[in-house]
Amino acid sequence: MVKEIFQTNAELKAWLIEQNSAIIFVPTMGGLHPGHQYLIRKAKDKTSKRKQIVLVSIFVNRLQFGKDEDFERYPRNIEKDAELALKAGADAVWAPNHEEIFPGGEDSHFKIQVPQILHNQLCGAERKGHFDGVATIIMRLIRIIKPKKIILGEKDWQQLIIIRKLFEELSIPIKIKSLPTQRDESGFAYSSRNSYLSNTEKLNALSLPKAIQEAKNEFEKTKVIHLKKIASKLKQNNLKIEYIKIVDAFSLKERENISGMCLLAAAVKCGETRLIDHTFLMQRKPIIAIDGPAGAGKSTITKEFSKRLGLIYLDTGAMYRAATWLIQSKSIDPNNEVEIKNILKDSKLEFKNSNIVEQRIFINNTDVTEKIRSPEVTSIVSIIAKQKFVRELLTTQQQLIGSDGGIVAEGRDIGTAVFPNADVKIFLTASSKERAKRRSLDLHKRGYTYSSIEDLEKEIQKRDKDDSQREIAPLKRANDAIDLFTDGMNIENVLEELTDIFRSKIPEEVWPTPNL
Ligand code: PAF
Repeated sequence: MVKEIFQTNAELKAWLIEQNSAIIFVPTMGGLHPGHQYLIRKAKDKTSKRKQIVLVSIFVNRLQFGKDEDFERYPRNIEKDAELALKAGADAVWAPNHEEIFPGGEDSHFKIQVPQILHNQLCGAERKGHFDGVATIIMRLIRIIKPKKIILGEKDWQQLIIIRKLFEELSIPIKIKSLPTQRDESGFAYSSRNSYLSNTEKLNALSLPKAIQEAKNEFEKTKVIHLKKIASKLKQNNLKIEYIKIVDAFSLKERENISGMCLLAAAVKCGETRLIDHTFLMQRKPIIAIDGPAGAGKSTITKEFSKRLGLIYLDTGAMYRAATWLIQSKSIDPNNEVEIKNILKDSKLEFKNSNIVEQRIFINNTDVTEKIRSPEVTSIVSIIAKQKFVRELLTTQQQLIGSDGGIVAEGRDIGTAVFPNADVKIFLTASSKERAKRRSLDLHKRGYTYSSIEDLEKEIQKRDKDDSQREIAPLKRANDAIDLFTDGMNIENVLEELTDIFRSKIPEEVWPTPNL
């Protein structure tokens, strides 16, 4: 493909129409460095079947600079930037002038106001209106380009959080892919503003990533962060601290105690140059909760997803099924709660794994992995699973398994009752028709018979009702869960969606996985 450089919107649009491809958009202000080049290199989806083009924009957006900031001296060299972008794999570079983006001037157009609660944290506290300017330009750019996906660096974490929120609130159907901060061999994060630093300043500036990394290493051992210690290291190196804080990575609110994913973030002035850096802090490995009604494909999806993430797969449904199988094998009335309690309290339920994903489930040393999938177990599992004692017993066991994190758990009340603090909560569902179809294929594959798809659908609807209406731990979508409605999607499509959701909550720096 011929690589192109465009200045006017008209030229760009004409070319885009010709391409008839999915556009992956990497917005920049120029001053390209290896961090940008990394975004460009990683922009394309490896699995996509549709033709994709990577478009890089270069536009120094006055709206995101305060009046005493460096708008005038911001590095501008379009030829050099375009060359670096194209070298990194961009298919085209778009470097519009101001009039192309704001015809008639900035005041002729809508501007975005970022919610104060997000704007006034971290960088936005000092840089009044900065993120309003960022949000406004992003809206102007995507309006012209209409990309399928936009690529943003995690170096500007606050910017990323704000743009995610913007797209979510305005229902903008553009995916956001974020990529980790890139650093040189000394650990210094690439930034266009690094070009302002003299050699001596660079040496001082290096104490920023160093102090943050040392604090993180100490945190891994002691679970404590000493902000004062970091501050004193920075001051010793002539850095003027604007802020150094621990905040919740998503609300950006300051945190005394570290829970969930937090950000240790700092901004300093090194001479005249403003620098930012951060690291993520977590007390445990990630927990992913996948809830949803029967037949939504949770098991297949969760199993494969945990394999890709290298996390332990916890099938809580299998635990209820194993308990049900035991009750059934002893011919106990499924409504006899007293007897069920007597049997279960002395039973031993275990997962034994040949590896973290391929687990087999044992109850009282009997391998019931296949047996628990029989239609007989299916028909009464929700009667057993709604009993208070059974619920409490198994919830405690599940919480024990997940106490250090590092699991993907599937069930019906994982995000609400078992792991309300899960880092990623998904509500995986599909219409009852679609689920009946999938169940019929599954039963057929495993050699079971069934009367008709219509009956299976009725069974599924009844099960949904029983599960949602039961008093103890009903099937319930957690308020903070993300819905994934899978009608018409194949397994690979669902896994791709899950990966995007996962990465929006757990960045690669926190959980690097070669398989995603
Ligand atoms: O991160 C940047 O380079 C800029 O803030 C962006 C996203 C290109 C908007 O001008």
